[in-house]
Amino acid sequence: LENGLARTPPMGWMSWGYYMCGVDCERYPDKCLDERLILSVVDSFYNEGYQEAGYEYIIIDDCWSEKQRDKHGRLVPDAKRFPRGMKYIADYIHERGLKFGMYTNIAAITCMKYPGSKDHFRVDAKTFAEWGVDYLKVDGCFVGEDYLNQAYVKLGSHLNETGRPMVYSCSWPYYIEFIHNNTPNLTAVSAHCNMWRNYHDVSNSWGAIKAIAKYYETNYEILAPHHGPGHWNDPDMLILGTGSLSESQTRVHVAVHAMLSGPLLLSCDMGQITSYERSLLQNLDLIAINQDPLGIMAKPYSLHEPVTMWMKPHFPMKGDIYPSYSVAFVNMGEEDGAVSFAPAQFGLNCTDGYSVMDVFTGVFLKNITLEDEINITVPPEDVILYSLFPL
Ligand code: GLA
Repeated sequence: LENGLARTPPMGWMSWGYYMCGVDCERYPDKCLDERLILSVVDSFYNEGYQEAGYEYIIIDDCWSEKQRDKHGRLVPDAKRFPRGMKYIADYIHERGLKFGMYTNIAAITCMKYPGSKDHFRVDAKTFAEWGVDYLKVDGCFVGEDYLNQAYVKLGSHLNETGRPMVYSCSWPYYIEFIHNNTPNLTAVSAHCNMWRNYHDVSNSWGAIKAIAKYYETNYEILAPHHGPGHWNDPDMLILGTGSLSESQTRVHVAVHAMLSGPLLLSCDMGQITSYERSLLQNLDLIAINQDPLGIMAKPYSLHEPVTMWMKPHFPMKGDIYPSYSVAFVNMGEEDGAVSFAPAQFGLNCTDGYSVMDVFTGVFLKNITLEDEINITVPPEDVILYSLFPL
């Protein structure tokens, strides 16, 4: 969607993955979706280096509202959990230079059966705009295919009419493909949405992370042409901070999101992020790969089982004629994977060769010519990620 927003993949935090429908705050205070939680995430972003690293959007997912609209037909935040309302939260977020995201569903109810936006597009768009929302996630549960194809376009035009810039995050193609077993029209989706979910919800497991990576690998040819500044395929949230992955699996998870130029939306208790995870989340070389202005989705090559190589070019740095590249050697298998890589084989053509940096350590390893072969052994469930800078 060309609305001037999401020129690079949005970065931030979203409640669903970890807090889910956290409405029972008395029984489960640690999983409570309320004002205190949202403000605490804002404080973490502001105080712990996330904001400087580029994390910006703080997004409240499903289960934020009362079960009934008010007498004017407007959505109302849950009075117990959001006692000062959403405008208060938006102001708190904006005062710190961050951005505010919210959630609705395109049907009459949300996926968790709270009021949805069907028949209320205009009033809801206006409400979100008045609250100061900067990003709207619109889910697609419980409706038919024709309705999905029309309603996302229509809601988008109502958002646009408010005059408030809001990143429009859609789940449209996911529902077309996996609920209605049809082929999504990604040309239409990318014309009307800033980002969109393609595949099933992430869960806090290595299996889910592998399945998501595999989906983008298998469907690269279909997805890549629609991916770029203002319009992104969305591989769903990052699960760092949930204790679900080993360190090497976590490297795979963040490397794949970085290489895909996928939105980087964390979902966890910010207090549970380990220092290693934080170093990955705030690794500026990794973020630069993700946030590259060209926004190209990396191309996968199955080099040699079990290793998949993902590669993408970057916007040339000032004074450079040749682009730099990032190359990820991902091993999702359970045994070592040995591969070799020669730049010339993959169309890299800076005649002076490249300087190779290991993105996870920040160490410049060596300079290579176009014909040199780099031999790499990737440990099981791990990734080697290099940036190649033209010499
Ligand atoms: C769907 C979405 C999730 C989340 C939930 C909320 O499953 O894909 O990301 O928004 O609904 O109910």
